[in-house]
Amino acid sequence: MPKLSLVAIAIASVASSYVLATGCSSKDDPGNPAVSDTGTTADAGAELTKFSPKGCAYTVARTKVEQLGMFELHADVASADPQLKNVRRGLGGEVDHGTAAYADPSKSFTVGWQTEVSTLASRIRYGESPDKLDQAADGFSFVIPQQIKIGPEDGLRFHEVHVCGLTPGRTYHYQVGGGAPGKEVWSPVYSTSTAPAAKDAVKIGISGDSRDELGRTELPVWRSIAGRYKADGTHLVLFSGDMVLMGVNQDNWDRWMTATGVSGTSVFYALSPGNHENEQARAFAHMLMPGAATANAERYSSFDYGPVHIVMIDDYPGIVSSSIDDTAHREELLAWLDADLTKANANRAAVPWIVTFHHHPFYSDTTRTERAKDMASVRGALQALWDKHKVDVDLAGHDHFYERFRPLLAGEKEDAKGTTYMVNGASGAPSYGLLEATPLAAFKTRYDPDKGEGIYGIATVDTASFKVKMYKLAASGSTPADDTVIDEFEVAKK
Ligand SMILES: [Fe+2]
Ligand SMILES: [Fe+2]
Repeated sequence: MPKLSLVAIAIASVASSYVLATGCSSKDDPGNPAVSDTGTTADAGAELTKFSPKGCAYTVARTKVEQLGMFELHADVASADPQLKNVRRGLGGEVDHGTAAYADPSKSFTVGWQTEVSTLASRIRYGESPDKLDQAADGFSFVIPQQIKIGPEDGLRFHEVHVCGLTPGRTYHYQVGGGAPGKEVWSPVYSTSTAPAAKDAVKIGISGDSRDELGRTELPVWRSIAGRYKADGTHLVLFSGDMVLMGVNQDNWDRWMTATGVSGTSVFYALSPGNHENEQARAFAHMLMPGAATANAERYSSFDYGPVHIVMIDDYPGIVSSSIDDTAHREELLAWLDADLTKANANRAAVPWIVTFHHHPFYSDTTRTERAKDMASVRGALQALWDKHKVDVDLAGHDHFYERFRPLLAGEKEDAKGTTYMVNGASGAPSYGLLEATPLAAFKTRYDPDKGEGIYGIATVDTASFKVKMYKLAASGSTPADDTVIDEFEVAKK
């Protein structure tokens, strides 16, 4: 069981005294109650590990990883130059499918950003017109101290606000910031949309592995792909991990957010951790995903997006890496998966498709044959569940090319009722080799990120059909019209 470092404990005690000092003076704020470990509201001196956003039925829990500071409530305190950056759109909610607390992207969204440490304002203003941001919501923040000598010395404060009670399929405009009355500091106005009702078509992006090599850090391929999603009107992108080279490095995350650009304020980038995120506090701080209200928050989640049930898992601790299993991740994850997929499979009349995404593939024709052991670990943990619950599409990355397998049941058997396994780790990470033709592969191709090439997918899904187009980004400086469709297929209905 990892212990909080002395630095984190010091920050936690600052957080505690802050709650003690300001808990009574914020009655007039449109603020949110917080709950402590004891379940009471804003206990004096409590170390907050959970937060219940006002108007939402769910509780946000703090992932138990080293260095992640305790939650601190919003206060009208902002420095003159809060250095507000990395505004990103996400989703909150719990993972108990069918309950009021369950994540609902058609009625809620989450926004995160960062500032320097002394800014405690965690507020957004929002509304249905960019000229009339007449509603407000308050959230919480926490600090991660500098972990390596790259990036800001103060380690940065992470802010998070959750908004619920919205209308499906609607565009909302928002800005983030806050501060003392008359001295507020606000971001530009951004916009994002809630998911449509289940009967409506949705477009879902498919990407992974944007991380670059040391010395080549501006992520030009990812910058182009994120721009494509924004221009296309894709509202949700499933990103299967290895966003950055080193999850511990804030500078890597800043560059990833800069490359994602305004697309990240609008499109919901649903992230699963990869091995390069390495279970670091900064990775969980940047992810804005639903999660269990347990120490394993954000290590697994699911939500219905239009006609698709989407499941994210962190497959590193307890599955690929036997050395990181200190919070009983595997048992908690597998029990939850079985329960969640059982409910999703029974709900196909309303939400007909099931898509899973995570980092390490079940199958891959990588020339890195030493990876066979990790693939066997993933199949050993998950294959029986995927077969039992008839998962339609499984998305992974980790291997830096694109490959799609024929629909498979029980691992080695082609069957139209089986799962379509895809590997797409081609958003800029260094190219890997592919083995020659194998019987299970339906399509595969390499790419050359040194030429600015990348591979990204867009699935167009309604209740009757699930169609996927995979595109090759031609080269740096190209436009969407230059991209070519390299693979196109339709998933058979179960
Ligand atoms: Fe990886
Ligand atoms: Fe990778």
